[in-house]
Amino acid sequence: MKQQLRPVGIIGTGKYVPEKILTNSDLEKMVETNDEWIVSRTGIRERHIAAPHEATSDLAYEAALKALDSAGMRAEDLDLIIVATVTPDSTVPSTACILQDKLGAKGAAAFDLSAACSGFVYGLATASGFIQNGMYNNALVIGADTLSRITDYNDRNTCVLFGDGAGAVILGEVPEGRGFQSFDLGAEGSGGSLLNIEAGGSRLPASHQTIEDKKHFLYMNGREVFKFAVRVMGTATERVLTKAGLGKENIDLFVPHQANIRIIQSAMQRLDLPPEKCVINVDKYANTSAASIPLALVEAAEEGRVKEGDTLLMVGFGGGLTWGASVLIW
Ligand code: UT7
Repeated sequence: MKQQLRPVGIIGTGKYVPEKILTNSDLEKMVETNDEWIVSRTGIRERHIAAPHEATSDLAYEAALKALDSAGMRAEDLDLIIVATVTPDSTVPSTACILQDKLGAKGAAAFDLSAACSGFVYGLATASGFIQNGMYNNALVIGADTLSRITDYNDRNTCVLFGDGAGAVILGEVPEGRGFQSFDLGAEGSGGSLLNIEAGGSRLPASHQTIEDKKHFLYMNGREVFKFAVRVMGTATERVLTKAGLGKENIDLFVPHQANIRIIQSAMQRLDLPPEKCVINVDKYANTSAASIPLALVEAAEEGRVKEGDTLLMVGFGGGLTWGASVLIW
């Protein structure tokens, strides 16, 4: 899809993280861990945690208001809302519908998208398709997660890794030559059990037993997911560049999923990228799942690191297992 029918790109951005910060030294008091281990193995120093009254839609709402403002748009003008999340407020209604109501976006279709940490890129691909083919003129795409709600704070293998947040973009038509140049989405369902929540769905509904067995928390085989991540970050990046007709030398800004600094560094090495061409904020926010790439993208834009005409490469991986990459000309 090198040449799109109707060029679609990002016309507004916003982000939100909850106020409360959980530091590595706070975690040292909760589980058998230490700052040195966490920083050297993951690059994470702190993460933001939602307040008890805050759900995913509340984080998404704050990010959405900023994105609408930066696009100079009113919520009433939105055609479509996609919320990528694995921590919806509830199973029904969707978080996107809750957000639609809260924003007053009466004219917008709304649905959630489940592709874990790759969800935001999946959402961009989905929404840009709708706009490209003329079904809609604009879309609000949000990656938002409150992983703290599904994290076992007695499990040191996972609790040091995750944080909460939301990143939002508005998609719309952009001048010829700008916008999304290519997408590469994929899944490896055979690896589903490497990163999962066993109970709470139709296979194993909630019961006293499932709660006692802690089956509503996120389980992860970190070592295997790490290997998958390094592999697909490389292959997806190469494929998405090829589809865009570009090479690694054309990348002005690399916006990877923020799960682990070592995974990001291995991708940077493969792409021969100097640090100034890579967005890294895993130290401040940890892994925020679907919010991770938009938080990195929006923060880079707010810091003035993105100029008109720059070529950005976003790439993420996560539960499913899934991956998603995109080349975007800003
Ligand atoms: O976005 C979703 C995708 N998720 C990811 O990207 C996560 C991918 N995986 C990773 O980032 C890494 O595998 C981890 C950070 C989860 C773990 O790092 P690792 O270098 O793969 O460590 P490991 O799992 O091989 O564990 C090494 C040791 C183990 O001890 P033993 O068995 O060698 O005695 C762990 O028990 O480190 C221990 N360990 C810890 N020690 C202190 C595990 N977690 C901790 C901890 N503090 N928090």
